Amino acid sequence: MVSPIAYILGKKGFHNIELQVGPGVLIPRPETELLVEIALAEIAKFNKPTTVLDLGTGSGAIALSIASASPLALFIATDQSSEALVIAKQNAELLNLTKQVQFLQGSWYEALDQSFQFDVIVSNPPYIANQDPHLSQGDLRFEPKSALTDYASGLSCLEIIIAGADQHLKAGGLIAVEHGFDQSEAVMELMKGVGLIDVQAHLDLAGLYRAVSGRKKL
Ligand SMILES: C[S@@+](CC[C@H](N)C(=O)[O-])C[C@H]1O[C@@H](n2cnc3c(N)ncnc32)[C@H](O)[C@@H]1O
Repeated sequence: MVSPIAYILGKKGFHNIELQVGPGVLIPRPETELLVEIALAEIAKFNKPTTVLDLGTGSGAIALSIASASPLALFIATDQSSEALVIAKQNAELLNLTKQVQFLQGSWYEALDQSFQFDVIVSNPPYIANQDPHLSQGDLRFEPKSALTDYASGLSCLEIIIAGADQHLKAGGLIAVEHGFDQSEAVMELMKGVGLIDVQAHLDLAGLYRAVSGRKKL
């Protein structure tokens, strides 16, 4: 078995930045740039400092690429994994983004001050089902299992993140999540089920629905 090239090189390009990566974090994927574009389009509407939450930040890919492209974006980025947070913090320092991105450790919203509400929430959580054969193929064999699978149906982390959106978004705020290629309808239903409005599925560059966004009512 040959280690992924990104782990051998210790770095990976993502959106407009280069990230240090190692076996403690997921190697950022090109399809995740879709979430970055959705968030940047939302932040551009504000034209003033915008608070953004990145749940499950890994290497910091989503938070740091958005912060790098938009000086108005102020992030809290969380992860349960201390190994991931060490790498994410290193990346923030290398990219000179420590003033824009603060890192917290904990499980999803538990890492946060519960009274704080954000303009935007983004997340690329583990969404591969426990029994999915892809987990034992290719680069996935080398990546942290806790970054890939929810050890259940694939939807359990997305359920928690979407269920907490109402409490943690400002009125009119946007949540956007990445999901598996066959989970778009289920994720849209989860968002509608918790009362989010303007629920939309988003296509990636390969023509696959890989992200869903929804908005808290005004
Ligand atoms: C699919 S990876 C995404 C990493 C990064 N955001 C990216 O897009 O490259 C999922 C991330 O969620 C984190 N994670 C898993 N379970 C978590 C939990 N209960 N609370 C917070 N983060 C969690 C993993 O450690 C991992 O960094």
